[in-house]
Amino acid sequence: MAEYHKQLSSDAQKIPEHVAIIMDGNGRWAQKRSLPRVSGHREALKTIKRVTLEAQRLGVKVLTLYAFSTENWKRPKSEVDFLMKLPQQFLNTYLVELIENNVQVRVMGDMTRIPQYTMRAVSQAVEQTKSNTGLILNFALNYGSHSEIVSAVKKMVQDVQARKLDPESIDEDLLADYMLSPALPDPDLLIRTGGELRLSNFMLWQLAYTELYFTDTFWPDFNEEDLRKAVREFACRQRRFGGLNGKGGDNK
Ligand code: FPP
Repeated sequence: MAEYHKQLSSDAQKIPEHVAIIMDGNGRWAQKRSLPRVSGHREALKTIKRVTLEAQRLGVKVLTLYAFSTENWKRPKSEVDFLMKLPQQFLNTYLVELIENNVQVRVMGDMTRIPQYTMRAVSQAVEQTKSNTGLILNFALNYGSHSEIVSAVKKMVQDVQARKLDPESIDEDLLADYMLSPALPDPDLLIRTGGELRLSNFMLWQLAYTELYFTDTFWPDFNEEDLRKAVREFACRQRRFGGLNGKGGDNK
């Protein structure tokens, strides 16, 4: 195992700097076992912990997890209430271990609708880990790309009206600064578990050149080896970013 990590790290450029994950299949994992759907979400927390630590071991710098989408409010209230308690539960159980591993917790999304107890847990974790220099564990919470883009446009228009922004200066880099992930590199690898082949309103701007990896494995079953498999496949892909040779290469 140590040999494996050494081998992967020896070619650091093949380790994705930023991995984003759509954690899907919790409900089906539970249904398959004749359990209530929420027990799949509870099991999902263990997966988050093991995948975070494995990502850190592999040398991934940022791990963004789609924890709750702007569309998830459409679920039955009882399930939404359960989902909103998960951050607190996760952090109560695992924050100490994350801190021991130098992990920095962040959150992105529209926090206005998040219950106070959820916000408190998340804000405390963000505060307590802000000086950590290891992997950034970025939770997308009440996140949706369409809403992110609408907010970015509104904010830009306000800045133009307030004469803080010259419309002529608007370019791709500037628009990226108005998104919810301005300080993060775009994801290199997107993993979606649970067998569905779609992006579900997740990081649409940031995923423009991301390598996509889909697996049928339900999120609660996803383990360290599954992550390594995705990273191995990523390492075999040739990224050209629209050119012939890769980023900064021939752009014809
Ligand atoms: C998809 O499964 C998963 C979710 C909607 C939410 C997963 C969220 C967590 C595990 C929360 C963790 C949050 C923090 C901050 C620790 P699904 O219910 O759509 O599964 P299905 O497609 O099988 O029905």
